[in-house]
Amino acid sequence: MTDPLTPLARVSCEHVPLSIFHRSTEASRAVAREIAELIRAKQRAGTNAVLGLATGSTPVGVYAELVRLHREEKLSFANVVTFNLDEYYPLPEDHPQSYHRYMRAHLFDHVDVPAANIHIPGGTVGAGEIEAHCRAYEDQIRAAGGLDFQLLGIGRTGHIGFNEPGSPRRSPTRLIALDPLTRRDAAGDFGGEEHTPRYALTMGVRTILEARRVVLLAWGEHKAAIIRAAVEGEATSQVTASFLQEHDDAVFVLDEAAASALTRRRTPWLIGPLEDQGLTWDDRMTRRAILWLSQQRKKAILKLTEDDYNEAGLQDLVRRIGSAYEANRTGFYQMQHTITGWPGGRDPQKTQPGDAPARPLRAPSANVFPKRVLVLSPHPDDDVISMGGTVCRLVDQGHDVHIAYEVSGHTAVPEEAVWRTLQFTRDAGLASDAAASRLADWIAEYERTGAFPRSLELKWFRTLIRRQEAAAAARVSGVPASKLHYLDLPFYDADTVRRRQLGPEDIDIMERLLNGVKPHLIYAAGDLDDPHGTHRLCLHALREALARCVKQPWLEAAEVWLYRGAWAEWQLDEIDLAVPLSPAEVVRRRRAIFQHETQKDQALFLGDDRREFWQRADDRGRRLADAYNALGLAEYEAIEAFKRYAPDEFLAYVR
Ligand code: F6R
Repeated sequence: MTDPLTPLARVSCEHVPLSIFHRSTEASRAVAREIAELIRAKQRAGTNAVLGLATGSTPVGVYAELVRLHREEKLSFANVVTFNLDEYYPLPEDHPQSYHRYMRAHLFDHVDVPAANIHIPGGTVGAGEIEAHCRAYEDQIRAAGGLDFQLLGIGRTGHIGFNEPGSPRRSPTRLIALDPLTRRDAAGDFGGEEHTPRYALTMGVRTILEARRVVLLAWGEHKAAIIRAAVEGEATSQVTASFLQEHDDAVFVLDEAAASALTRRRTPWLIGPLEDQGLTWDDRMTRRAILWLSQQRKKAILKLTEDDYNEAGLQDLVRRIGSAYEANRTGFYQMQHTITGWPGGRDPQKTQPGDAPARPLRAPSANVFPKRVLVLSPHPDDDVISMGGTVCRLVDQGHDVHIAYEVSGHTAVPEEAVWRTLQFTRDAGLASDAAASRLADWIAEYERTGAFPRSLELKWFRTLIRRQEAAAAARVSGVPASKLHYLDLPFYDADTVRRRQLGPEDIDIMERLLNGVKPHLIYAAGDLDDPHGTHRLCLHALREALARCVKQPWLEAAEVWLYRGAWAEWQLDEIDLAVPLSPAEVVRRRRAIFQHETQKDQALFLGDDRREFWQRADDRGRRLADAYNALGLAEYEAIEAFKRYAPDEFLAYVR
């Protein structure tokens, strides 16, 4: 059998071997297989397999596959010795977020690894014993014969283990202060930054580099930039993963999203002829190269010259198209055809003979008017944040617009907002006598402890608060309450964010919605790796539900348009539809976003972007408009962008 992690042929700008898989699930299985083979080889030799293990969201699939191999293929862990990379400090072992708990939940409780063989840095050692504890940890690794295999994730700071920027090449196991970005990334799990530990005990860079084999995993677009720095940048203590460039047997195992910023993916023509890389100059690649060139040269597309193409190594493209002039026209028209002020098509009654055609032209429902439109909003505010202007347009242009709020979003309602609502209900005399006394108890508890009791009834109130905000925002957009669907998908109610997974009920709910609305246009958040995974799960729920609808006649005329959540925007070359907004529409969108009062200043869910949602939406729309302008297209106030999929393409995309 060939080694499934066989690295790709190296290209000159890459300083570490890479293995790239379409999806993280396939990659995780391949990595688990390598670990299983190591364990079995050591069993045959009568020795132990010494594994260095990582935690976090990345290796979950590897552990799941190892557990499956144990259960179904009798892989024994009796000869396995493990050393974990790190543990938060200080943190009790039984804390829900401790790496001790994590390892038991994902691996140790499900396989036959002897308890005495498990080593994890202690989150509770006394301050005075830390140094001795860390030295002993290194001694234990050495006594076990050194690490045969080290599994790693990578943080957005470029850390391996918790070796944050500044950690020297020769650093040993030690106490380290966590980088602010790392703490922000962990804040969601800990219920806010103020509850997130400031320190961790971590194996050092040296400890990791001493392992005989190192496999670093990275999934998702949010890792793409740091992967590029670690792979293509110089080896530096500012990105400790880059030190793996100096290891003899290290490989980075990536999914396509994490690999997407690498030169071989973003600008492959800089590496060599596309054919040599198994690529072709199709429409997308052509557009990407021309947009890239226009941005590089800071010139409008139609002003690019033969020399510009030649000097940037794009002779091959010009030769194929015929001339720089023709190449410019190709790129320009591709972009121009993405722009339309009629996202749902035009009313044939109101179209004048000389009017520009509504784009894009290939919609199977091009001649249907008005269209049934279903906007899927994972959280109650994603619709207005990411496509508020387009919703207004669709409504104003006479389409039948429905909005479905997929999860309740109750976890993001601050206690103050609950307090205000309860106080209002009490002061306005709107509570029955029985309810009034419960209400008084809750308020008293909040005033005493700063928090409301965790009850189903209060969760329901939080849900209602968000529903009211969504309904108020939809009113601003012109969508009546009768066309709002609150799905409250049950996956959202798992006890921790990491445990959320889709169940049959989630898919049933989505399927009922689709068959109820029978939409021509489905707008959905196209994020496959959002910070908390909710958008990804919602997209998968849509996928599963659509797959069940393949025989429904309505699906033949349907298409899926994906927008991006508040964290990101499509790359210019990915955009199929660009809806320009007028200054008045930008103000109206802002007013819709303002209706989501509980989401103001909600640091918990803002990731590392501290701006409020309306600021992000404004800025993102303006930037995209500026980018179109710089390419030499029209000058707009703001643009909202979408990527188009026919249903079968969508099913293949969200695998
Ligand atoms: C975990 C660890 C960290 C993580 C990294 C990525 O033991 O040492 O380096 O691997 O922070 O975390 P996730 O996988 O959650 O993105």
